[in-house]
Amino acid sequence: KTVYLKNYQAPDYLIDETHLSFELHEDRTLVEARLAMRRNPAGGAGLPPLVLDGQQLELLAVTLDGRELGVHEYQVDDSHLSLQPERAEFVVETRVCIHPESNTALEGLYKSGKMFCTQCEAEGFRKITYYLDRPDVMSRFTTTLSAEQQRYPVLLSNGNPVASGNTDNGRHWATWEDPFRKPAYLFALVAGDLWCVEDEFTTLSGRRVTLRIYVEPENIDKCQHAMDSLKRAMRWDEETYGREYDLDIFMIVAVNDFNMGAMENKGLNIFNSGAVLAKAETATDAAHQRVEAIVAHEYFHNWSGNRVTCRDWFQLSLKEGFTVFRDAGFSADMNSATVKRIEDVAYLRTHQFAEDAGPMAHSVRPDSYMEISNFYTLTVYEKGSEVVGMLRTLLGAEGFRRGSDLYFERHDGQAVTCDDFVKAMEDANGVDLTQFKRWYTQAGTPCLEVAEQYDAKAGTYTLTFRQSCPPTPSQAHKEPFVIPVALALLDGQGRELPLRLTGEAEAAGSGRVLAVTAAEQAFTFVDLPERPLPSLLRNFSAPVKLVYPYGRDQLMFLMQHDSDGFNRWEAGQQLAVQVLQELVGQQQRGESMVLDRRLLAALKSVLENEGLDPAMVAEMLSLPGEAYLIEISAVADVEAIHAAREFARREIAGALYEPLWQRYRSNREVSRQSPYVASAEHFARRALQNIALSYLMLSGRPEVLAACQDQYQATDNMTERLAALAVLVNSPFEAEKAKALAMFADYFQDDPLVMDQWFSVQAGCSLPGGLERVQALMKHPAFTLKNPNKVRALIGAFANQNHVNFHRADGLGYRFLADQVIMLNALNPQIAARQLAPLTRWRKYDAVRQVLMRAELERILACGELSCDVYEVVSKSLA
Ligand code: ARG
Ligand code: ZN
Repeated sequence: KTVYLKNYQAPDYLIDETHLSFELHEDRTLVEARLAMRRNPAGGAGLPPLVLDGQQLELLAVTLDGRELGVHEYQVDDSHLSLQPERAEFVVETRVCIHPESNTALEGLYKSGKMFCTQCEAEGFRKITYYLDRPDVMSRFTTTLSAEQQRYPVLLSNGNPVASGNTDNGRHWATWEDPFRKPAYLFALVAGDLWCVEDEFTTLSGRRVTLRIYVEPENIDKCQHAMDSLKRAMRWDEETYGREYDLDIFMIVAVNDFNMGAMENKGLNIFNSGAVLAKAETATDAAHQRVEAIVAHEYFHNWSGNRVTCRDWFQLSLKEGFTVFRDAGFSADMNSATVKRIEDVAYLRTHQFAEDAGPMAHSVRPDSYMEISNFYTLTVYEKGSEVVGMLRTLLGAEGFRRGSDLYFERHDGQAVTCDDFVKAMEDANGVDLTQFKRWYTQAGTPCLEVAEQYDAKAGTYTLTFRQSCPPTPSQAHKEPFVIPVALALLDGQGRELPLRLTGEAEAAGSGRVLAVTAAEQAFTFVDLPERPLPSLLRNFSAPVKLVYPYGRDQLMFLMQHDSDGFNRWEAGQQLAVQVLQELVGQQQRGESMVLDRRLLAALKSVLENEGLDPAMVAEMLSLPGEAYLIEISAVADVEAIHAAREFARREIAGALYEPLWQRYRSNREVSRQSPYVASAEHFARRALQNIALSYLMLSGRPEVLAACQDQYQATDNMTERLAALAVLVNSPFEAEKAKALAMFADYFQDDPLVMDQWFSVQAGCSLPGGLERVQALMKHPAFTLKNPNKVRALIGAFANQNHVNFHRADGLGYRFLADQVIMLNALNPQIAARQLAPLTRWRKYDAVRQVLMRAELERILACGELSCDVYEVVSKSLA
């Protein structure tokens, strides 16, 4: 069943007060709800039936205004409870029994290990009690929970603790009150034997806030990084957006079994343990940065999501796109802004562009869905963030801040739409963004072709932009977008030339932003005595595919001279793409591969540039990933792409052995001599050290193997250890590899997050036999399909990162994935649907593989009892 945005209707009833009481037990949990309701004044006349959402609930009793209803006075089916109110204001009470202990879908109330926890977004609250489970119904919640004192000494919910006590039967209870009205998706409770790290934060206006991170006792030494990140995020949001925290306490709880990264429940964020726990010995630099970003993201939701929430789930990007944009700004300010941008763009172009080109393509604000869980996507999150970023680019930093201030002020306490967000931006700046809003309604990645024309006599230079956007499901034709193109024109020395457009009175500054609004549009610059080289779409100012016919020498020039750091990297990537595509072509024609030496020269000068941020050097040394090369192919030749990239890597390693070795040794020396520090400077240094090692190892020389083994063993941190392990795993040194893997598993067997990394490194190994290795690892005692992190670490890493093995010609990789999806469908539909994604991309591959991939999708479809989540993805992929 499909839900459409166009059918949105305001709720018939509102819930002013929600009183919940939970009696938590190992085998059954009782939930009582008392809802003080009234007719929605905006909802028309009369008293329509009250239809509450509820799934998998065993209904024990219903009362209306204190009178228990007889069975003929209400109706229950598998997703609703309906009854007829007699007055405009009334109180409904229900009592239900639920089974958190057997909830493997990890939605609603469930057990993760020994603790009880919840995940309600988007529609999980209806698995806890009968309710109006929609974000435009906002209520004040009071929650009482009781549990056995011994096993569950800590009892948490949203807001402030107001009362607690013991009962004589070995149980205890606590009552929490949340003073802020909120939709049910922001409800949370936790009960467990948890320890916490506590700190304090004083807000700009002087409010003292208690900060607590709750974890299982064995993880108490892994909380400090998240706590530090939280305090930095709280300060940053005050300084950057003028947003202060609003309760007396802010809590984070780490749970091992969690479908996503984390959840912004009011005052009680619940985190996947992998998104909050980090210490040097067990978490890599990348993991540390991910923790910092996710802690900030969830904290920022307190304003962009909680204080101002979504009217309906089609508006999901209202909170997610904006909050991703906010956390990206935070990470950029805490670390290297250019490197953060490079990482985000590489991720967007590899994965979101693929989604936009596939069968599940949808706009940032979708028009319809079958299962909303399937729309927590790269498009809603990452492209949604790009859309907010384009608004900032068009309005300028100050104009954007005026807009966000107005948005928060105008809509505080409301459930609103993406249109309301844009309206605030318009009203605060006196601009019309009607055409801009197509970014919210039209799916697909626009293509922007640029042509140039230089008139030496007149000294004019004309750039002509042509935009187009391919059809996507149910959207054949697209209207032109507003595409902000940040650009500069460079002279022969790489200096930015003053930019003046025809008809402009005076010269504007050098770098600037053009708004391309028509399908075809030309801009003419004047007073240019020489032909300039354009630096286009600086800092990736719009999520489009830019097509401009740069020659390789021009790209090398931009790599060296462009004053936009992002575009320096981008020039290197484009050069590498051209060279790699040439190698793919050579293989397809049966020729032997010959690498364009210019790529080697370009990388050599990057490597020898001591003035460049080592993080940038590391990024520029990284060749475009196989997934990206697949995405930009019309028909992806997975084997040729892999062979081309490996060939190029070996050539680079051979030609640049000396400078790589030098960079490796100097950085490894610092790592050896100083204890681990989680700072941008050291992240950068280790990134360079590790990419250098990965190239050097391709030489197969004994001194590199020795260095790699030394790095694996003699280190105080996971960044060095895991990088060395990954390099060994992908090397031909079988005995050393086996030894290192065994040592690792032996030492870290009790740390599930470290074991995830151990699974991932092996799942991603592109050497022959990948499927067999993964199948063997599925039997490892540390693996279980019930834990989403394990599924992602092994199955996800194999299907998404190990292209040659997943796409093996006999189709057994596809068959394996489909088998897992079928099993996961019964356990955890959300995870099942997500793991399916690689099969949905069948159109990218050759005819033989297309048949094999489709056959597996058909097999899933035919296997019977499909969840809504999996059904939607499979059926749309086959349509
Ligand atoms: N709102 C959460 C976040 O992005 C994600 C919630 C995911 N829920 C889901 N049903 N998939 O921070
Ligand atoms: Zn979010």
